[in-house]
Amino acid sequence: MTVKVVLGVSGGIAAYKACELLRRFTESGHDVTVVPTASALQFVGAPTWSALSGKPVATDVWTDVHAVPHVHIGQQADVVVVAPATADLLARAAHGLADDLLTNTLLTARCPVVFAPAMHTEMWEHPATQANVATLRERGAVVIEPAVGRLTGADTGKGRLPEPGEIYELVRGLLDRGADATQDLSGRKVVVSAGGTREYLDPVRFLGNRSSGLQGYALARAAASRGAHVTLVSANVTLPDPAGVHVVRVETTDQLRDAVVAATATADAVVMAAAPADFRPTAVSEAKIKKADDGSAPAIELAQNPDILAEISHDRAREGAVIVGFAAETGDATGSVLDLGRAKLARKGCDLLVVNDVSGGAVFGSTDNEAVVLAADGAAVEVPRGSKTALAHVIWDEVARRFAG
Ligand code: CTP
Repeated sequence: MTVKVVLGVSGGIAAYKACELLRRFTESGHDVTVVPTASALQFVGAPTWSALSGKPVATDVWTDVHAVPHVHIGQQADVVVVAPATADLLARAAHGLADDLLTNTLLTARCPVVFAPAMHTEMWEHPATQANVATLRERGAVVIEPAVGRLTGADTGKGRLPEPGEIYELVRGLLDRGADATQDLSGRKVVVSAGGTREYLDPVRFLGNRSSGLQGYALARAAASRGAHVTLVSANVTLPDPAGVHVVRVETTDQLRDAVVAATATADAVVMAAAPADFRPTAVSEAKIKKADDGSAPAIELAQNPDILAEISHDRAREGAVIVGFAAETGDATGSVLDLGRAKLARKGCDLLVVNDVSGGAVFGSTDNEAVVLAADGAAVEVPRGSKTALAHVIWDEVARRFAG
């Protein structure tokens, strides 16, 4: 069945990015009705929306009145996405005004509604806007945190529209989850680490590993789509920033540790999906290490890095926080993959351990994953082979159950 998407566009400069979002939807086979505000048309004209969606567009309730569009567009929608959502649009939506076609549509829609705000930092941080955002969230709407970066003009700060591809991923995730797409992590602060750390030998060489960051990014996206406030500590990942997620970039295990420990102080949950290098060279050469004329190779002495998961699990900076680790195991003479997983869960002291069987290296860079989620209370949840997004949701289900309990 074709999914009916309503794309609301309000009057901010980021309206031009909504054209890209519209294309993502139409190219994926969705039926899109664009409902711009009159101000949005100051930035991008009606012919553009009409050509890209293949439908006429209107901003007011007086066009094609016989078809009762001010009611039907909202009633028939499977999802309404407002991108960009300006401070004015958020205010009108929060107060239930119905002075144009988009605000009428927001009142008649009973499907998931997603707002992707974009505005200057001052407008976003203003108590009026924050109160309106809180009201919309309380009513079940998904309001994506704006991205941090270059704004209109020379200034930078919080207020950018997240990348259209990432808004698309978030909406597609909500549609895939259907009735399960609740905001059950709303108000929760979570920290996810992702990627693989690098330990430098000299300015150009490092010891690294094969972690792609895909699982950590899927976890961050999934948590954001369930309403969590997400900090993603990202080590050397080249993927785009997930919509609504605060991304902290690090390179080394020490930097990862500092960022995770700092964020953990106020976190309700921490998921260590990163692959921190366990060892680092004891010395980092300031100059590039040269080949020796006699053909000899330099000896590299290694020191052990801090075990971040064990540290935050034993320190328990915040009582009641749920701490989740990952274990990539192959099984060996001392035990099966699950035996080693159980032993690691006890050793690290975390609440949940997601155990992957990595015999053959199949998981690295793959969009699929398969795992068993072991709990400190002895429970085990088997997750069959599926997308990393599906595994991410099972992990958050387990975390959410522990919040509730
Ligand atoms: N981890 C960590 N700090 C490290 C290494 C690992 O926080 N220095 C975390 C990973 O993010 C993961 C979990 O610990 O959540 C499991 O990592 P793994 O490397 O499998 O565990 P090790 O203790 O290194 O065990 P092994 O001896 O099997 O390598």
